[in-house]
Amino acid sequence: MDANKDTSHGQARFYQNWVVLAGAIVAAGSIFAFLLLFAIDLFAHHGNPYMGILAYVVAPGFFFLGAFLITGGLWLQRRHARRSAPGTVSPLVINLSSVRGRKTLGIVVVCGVGFLLLTAIGSNRTYHYTESVQFCGQTCHTPMKPEFTTYLNSPHARVECTACHVGEGAEWYIKSKINGVHQLVGVITGNYDRPIKTPLKHLRLAQETCEQCHWPQKYVGNIERTYNHFLADETNTPFTVRLLLKVGGGDPTHGPVGGIHWHMNLANKVEYIATDDRRQVIPWVRLTEADGTVTEFRTPEFKDEAAKHTVRTADCMDCHNRPAHHFRSPNDAVDLAMASGRIDPALPWVKSNLVALLVGSYQTEDEALAKIGTTLREKYAGKPKVDALVSSAQEIFKQTMFPEMKADWRAYPNNISHKDWAGCFRCHDGKHKTADGKKSIKASDCNSCHTILAQGAGEELNKLNPKGHTFFHIDAPNEDFDCNSCHTGAFPK
Ligand code: HEC
Ligand code: HEC
Ligand code: HEC
Ligand code: HEC
Ligand code: HEC
Ligand code: HEC
Repeated sequence: MDANKDTSHGQARFYQNWVVLAGAIVAAGSIFAFLLLFAIDLFAHHGNPYMGILAYVVAPGFFFLGAFLITGGLWLQRRHARRSAPGTVSPLVINLSSVRGRKTLGIVVVCGVGFLLLTAIGSNRTYHYTESVQFCGQTCHTPMKPEFTTYLNSPHARVECTACHVGEGAEWYIKSKINGVHQLVGVITGNYDRPIKTPLKHLRLAQETCEQCHWPQKYVGNIERTYNHFLADETNTPFTVRLLLKVGGGDPTHGPVGGIHWHMNLANKVEYIATDDRRQVIPWVRLTEADGTVTEFRTPEFKDEAAKHTVRTADCMDCHNRPAHHFRSPNDAVDLAMASGRIDPALPWVKSNLVALLVGSYQTEDEALAKIGTTLREKYAGKPKVDALVSSAQEIFKQTMFPEMKADWRAYPNNISHKDWAGCFRCHDGKHKTADGKKSIKASDCNSCHTILAQGAGEELNKLNPKGHTFFHIDAPNEDFDCNSCHTGAFPK
């Protein structure tokens, strides 16, 4: 401020300038609010998700509004003064030879340093907050609920959303924030896709996200997985498959190159064209090997030139596309609950009844939970532990089905398998051939990607066959390779 002049007149005008006054009130209020919220956020551990958005987004926003108003107001005021009485307004000068001048300078320096410190803490906190799981998953509650719930039940529940969705680097931080503003407007106006579309078009390459934690050279070898199922009959007949998955590895210094992770062999490149939005139909694949050999595979129906389409290079996420948001199918979710004892397999028709209830059409979660409750109480009246059955069934619904967002396994294909979705068989179906028809992408052999160690129930599961059993089926033909032409994730077609 002008320190040379008698200011009584100027001060009056200063306070007359309501813009500056309003700015000062807004700025002071926001600093006070920030300090208060900051303290609450610091001391209250499991805070409310809106606390962070108030402290680190809304309060600083108001502070900048206040600062903008003050500067703008002062500028207007001086311009007005200069215009109405030219020559009377001198430029800003601080006279260090006067006590008053030194005092003013002191105040300016202290306030300035204080302000910078506060901004530094504030922006650091704002940066971390807008990168936090809480901000991404909970603040805009309705649209993110399906992804947040599935994330909390995934092997990546301790990994921040941004480690996969944004990654390192200023460029991506800014990109994501610009995108975020767009999303915020969507949330406020209620204008967003239900379900949110997948796959994400602008997801970063796996090399810059997944491979920050996962070392692609790692040799995994064989891993055993057990798939416990129950048929949809009166006795809920158990049917289990024990598979030895030949995951292998892609780097010769750590183990033989081969198996499923052969795909990750850094020397080979697999590129493909998908003709649908969800990347479920892949009629064209190009393999470039280490020695430069290029092989093109295509299905007979695909006659187009490759150049007309977008060619995508396959990476981790073409198989592991649900590492954090796996929407379990009703069939698998009920099987899991039965296998782990949360639902009693002795209750007649329980598998079939639960799957039917889960896939019913509902507008809201509350409607579904109520319907599940009344139906099961009616069907199993008089049986022991009906309350436990109802709450387990409702829990499955809450974890896997999100009617408000129309989000469930139907909206989000899982490409890691081939039972309910085409998955690996998008390419490994025996129909992808070279132009001369001599070579095709490996298929048909059920023991090439995994060995069927055992299958069936009870004693049968102890009859291990290291070479692999021939897959057999109960109540269904055994020769059909195209699993997802019948299996839908609910009842088979
Ligand atoms: C381990 C990595 C990882 C983490 C952690 C992660 N995501 Fe995802 N997310 C993905 C992948 C991969 C996809 C699917 C990408 C595709 O197919 O295009 C995805 C998709 C999404 C989608 C699009 C809808 C869908 O389901 O395909 C939303 C929304 C989303 N994630 C939000 C979140 C939120 C919120 C968090 C944190 C609470 C989070 N993600 C944490 C990897 C991750
Ligand atoms: C910030 C580090 C981090 C990032 C980024 C990350 N992961 Fe992971 N991932 C982990 C950790 C840690 C585990 C092991 C969790 C455990 O076993 O408890 C894991 C486990 C896995 C597993 C094994 C899951 C299982 O069923 O046991 C797969 C598959 C996987 N990650 C794939 C991915 C993919 C694909 C991406 C990129 C979209 C990714 N990860 C990104 C840290 C990460
Ligand atoms: C061709 C498909 C495919 C690709 C590409 C792929 N994986 Fe896998 N990966 C699998 C399958 C199938 C398994 C078996 C276990 C499972 O289903 O999770 C597996 C297993 C894993 C596991 C779990 C190992 C364990 O010990 O439990 C991790 C971690 C993993 N993959 C990470 C990655 C990463 C990181 C990439 C990218 C660099 C990648 N995968 C690329 C198909 C693939
Ligand atoms: C985008 C197309 C595509 C998808 C999707 C795909 N693959 Fe492949 N895969 C290929 C191509 C191309 C080859 C190399 C040609 C060949 O060996 O037949 C290959 C080779 C393989 C091999 C042989 C490696 C070796 O040792 O020779 C295995 C095993 C394999 N894939 C497993 C899988 C599994 C499991 C999945 C699903 C999780 C999967 N692939 C998904 C295209 C694909
Ligand atoms: C291209 C590689 C590949 C081929 C070929 C293949 N599978 Fe699989 N299969 C997989 C993968 C990968 C999984 C699932 C891994 C996971 O759960 O993460 C799987 C899972 C399964 C499961 C367990 C599914 C469940 O949810 O219960 C069965 C059963 C199975 N395969 C049978 C077969 C049969 C039968 C054939 C031959 C017609 C076959 N597979 C051919 C890769 C393959
Ligand atoms: C012609 C239709 C058809 C085809 C094709 C088919 N299935 Fe099935 N599958 C069925 C029927 C029907 C049942 C019995 C379902 C029941 O009673 O719950 C069944 C049961 C199963 C079960 C045990 C029940 C469950 O809940 O999952 C598994 C595992 C299975 N099939 C795997 C496969 C695999 C893997 C393939 C592909 C190699 C395949 N099926 C192909 C019709 C089919």
